[in-house]
Amino acid sequence: MIKLNVNGKSMEVDVEPDTPLLWVLRDTLGLTGTKYGCGMALCGACTVHLGGDPIRACVTPVSAVGEQPILTIEGLSSDRSHPVQQAWIELDVPQCGYCQSGQIMSAVALLKQNPKPTDSDIDSAMAGNLCRCGTYQRIRAAIHRAAETPAKS
Ligand code: FES
Ligand code: FES
Repeated sequence: MIKLNVNGKSMEVDVEPDTPLLWVLRDTLGLTGTKYGCGMALCGACTVHLGGDPIRACVTPVSAVGEQPILTIEGLSSDRSHPVQQAWIELDVPQCGYCQSGQIMSAVALLKQNPKPTDSDIDSAMAGNLCRCGTYQRIRAAIHRAAETPAKS
């Protein structure tokens, strides 16, 4: 059994140590908000926070997690009230939505490190999160909107 702290809760999972964290989250724990895109750390759809930093869950073996807390999109708020989620809703950011959990998790991490990012800060921090629907302009605007409200995590 492997012990994990996910979204503030301690849990144990019975999986092989080399299982990617993404599959543990989605298949073992049922946290399907985090998406599978490329499986090769190229698209950002699987972004979650590990120890407060954004990581690609598709290439992170669960054995590498240790005691570091994991935060997924489900852990931001229970009612979409996190300032970044609110900004995404207000500006109608998603199209198909597939990439958006990863986008939001990267945006939350950016705002935690840099509460008032410039366009260039945003473009640089979000460069690893791809959107096939091309929502980049609205993502940028939503991050600026969220920066007007203190981020909670
Ligand atoms: S699914 Fe992990 S980066 Fe694409
Ligand atoms: S909203 Fe469709 S891939 Fe980003």
